[in-house]
Amino acid sequence: MNIGIIGSGNVGGTVGELWAKAGHQVMFSFSRSSERLQTLAAQIGTNATSGTPAEAANFADVVLFAPNFWLVQEAIAQAGSLAGKIVIDTTNPYRWAESGGIVRMVGENVSGAETIQKLLPGARLVKAYSSFQPSALRRWAERPLDQRLAVAIAADDEAAKAIVAQLIEDSGGRPFDLGTLQNARLIEIPGSFSSSDNLTLDAAFKRRLQVLGY
Ligand SMILES: NC(=O)c1ccc[n+]([C@@H]2O[C@H](COP(=O)([O-])OP(=O)(O)OC[C@H]3O[C@@H](n4cnc5c(N)ncnc54)[C@H](OP(=O)(O)O)[C@@H]3O)[C@@H](O)[C@H]2O)c1
Repeated sequence: MNIGIIGSGNVGGTVGELWAKAGHQVMFSFSRSSERLQTLAAQIGTNATSGTPAEAANFADVVLFAPNFWLVQEAIAQAGSLAGKIVIDTTNPYRWAESGGIVRMVGENVSGAETIQKLLPGARLVKAYSSFQPSALRRWAERPLDQRLAVAIAADDEAAKAIVAQLIEDSGGRPFDLGTLQNARLIEIPGSFSSSDNLTLDAAFKRRLQVLGY
C-alpha cells in the first residue's frame, strides 16, 4: 500500500518506518527541513521516500496525519484536498503553554478528530495511534502476539477502519475497536484510552467493559 506521512516526527517517523519495514511504500512529508525528511527516508532505505505534503497526498492510498495540533491548518493547506483518501488522525488537540503545561485547542465536548474531519471534507477519517508513545509500539512489537500494544481505533467508515486495522497489525500493534468517530475523544488526551498507560488487547477489553459497558 502507498502511505503518505504528513508530519514525520516522533509518531509519523516511527510508524512510517514500521510500515516501510513491513513492505509498504512510505513517503514522508511536512517539516521545516526537506533535508531532514530525505535523511529519515535514506536511513530507512528500501520503501521510503520523502516529498512535499501535496506529493505525499497524491501518492497515498492512506495518509497518516501526524502534525502538532497547532499546525493542523498549515499541514492541510500544504497537502491540498484529501477527499476520498483514508486519513489516520494521530493528533491530540493540545499546544504547549508558555508557562508550562498544555492548553486544550478545541471545546471540551468536541474531539480533535471531529474538528479535523470538518477541515477535511470527504476524507475517510480514522482515529488511531494517538494513545501511546510511538517508542512503546516499536518495543512491544517484539513481544508475543498476545502481549503486543493495543492500538485503539475509532471511525464512522467501517471499510476504512478495516484497512487501518490491517495497517495496525503490520506496524506490530493489535487493533482495538472503540466504535464511531464520536469515541475518538476516548483515545485523545485526557480520554480513558489516552496515553496514561500502555495496554495489551486483554487489558483494553477489560477497560472498555468498565468505560462503555461492552
Ligand atoms: N509524541 C507522542 O508521544 C505522541 C503520541 C501520540 C500522539 N501524538 C500526537 O501526534 C501528533 C504528532 O506528534 P509528534 O510527537 O510526532 O510531533 P513532532 O515529533 O513534534 O513532529 C511534528 C512534525 O511536524 C513538523 N513541523 C513542526 N513544525 C513545523 C512547521 N512550522 N512547518 C512544517 N512542519 C513542521 C516536524 O518536522 P521538523 O521538526 O523537521 O520541522 C515533524 O515532522 C501531535 O498532534 C501529537 O499530539 C504524539
